[in-house]
Amino acid sequence: MNILLFGPPGAGKGTQSALLVEKDGYAHISTGDILRAAIKNETPLGLEAKKQIDKGELVPDEVVTGLVDEAISSLGQQPFILDGFPRTVVQAENLDEILKNKDKKISKAIFLDVDTNFLVKRLSGRRVCKSCGASYHVDASPTKVEGICDKCSGQTYQRTDDEPSAINKRLEVYEQQTSPLKSYYIEVGNFVKVDGLGSFPEVYGRIKELIEV
Ligand code: AP5
Repeated sequence: MNILLFGPPGAGKGTQSALLVEKDGYAHISTGDILRAAIKNETPLGLEAKKQIDKGELVPDEVVTGLVDEAISSLGQQPFILDGFPRTVVQAENLDEILKNKDKKISKAIFLDVDTNFLVKRLSGRRVCKSCGASYHVDASPTKVEGICDKCSGQTYQRTDDEPSAINKRLEVYEQQTSPLKSYYIEVGNFVKVDGLGSFPEVYGRIKELIEV
């Protein structure tokens, strides 16, 4: 089954996607990761997207829709997780169209529920590996050696959009533009809510129970 993980910045979408990829063989489509790779490679898309991402604003709907369409097409029949897309109702409608054209569907739209107080702490403490993209948290999942990735020995850094002013903007953008997706998927009939507080394996266990139903 294909699933969609959505929720506020810092809810744990990337963390749980990594576990689902490792343990359950899903492909992972993260628009945030695709855009950050484009920024790293200094492509025209990356240079343009960087302006919005650094400020905590959204990249235009048509840009991310095109990226997701391409990514889904490249997967064949492998089941996938969508992480960070859709993020607006227009993107959700575009996704419906993309899936219809490919004769696919989203079985569960999983909302990861985490209170705002925890989100700021999670985002400001996140560190990411420059080389392999592995994600850590200074308290919840620190690297064994400070500043060095456990997996590939690359250097870790703080994302520019994890600075306080960008975090506040992202939370505001989430409330205004992304939270309406809850009603959208309740209406579609595939909405499920998961408590995103607890250890990584606890949250994973809750998701796993839902996707096995
Ligand atoms: P994106 O990369 O998608 O960012 P986001 O949605 O803001 O989500 P995050 O990656 O910040 O958080 P997450 O929920 O994945 O949390 P994580 O698991 O890392 O997008 C970045 C930007 O790109 C956007 O702002 C926008 O500009 C642009 N963009 C992307 N998609 C777009 C779209 N569709 N349309 C338009 N623009 C788009 O966890 C966070 C931290 O918390 C980590 O340090 C982790 O270790 C820790 N943590 C996770 N789970 C737990 C737990 N259970 N307990 C304690 N700590 C935890």
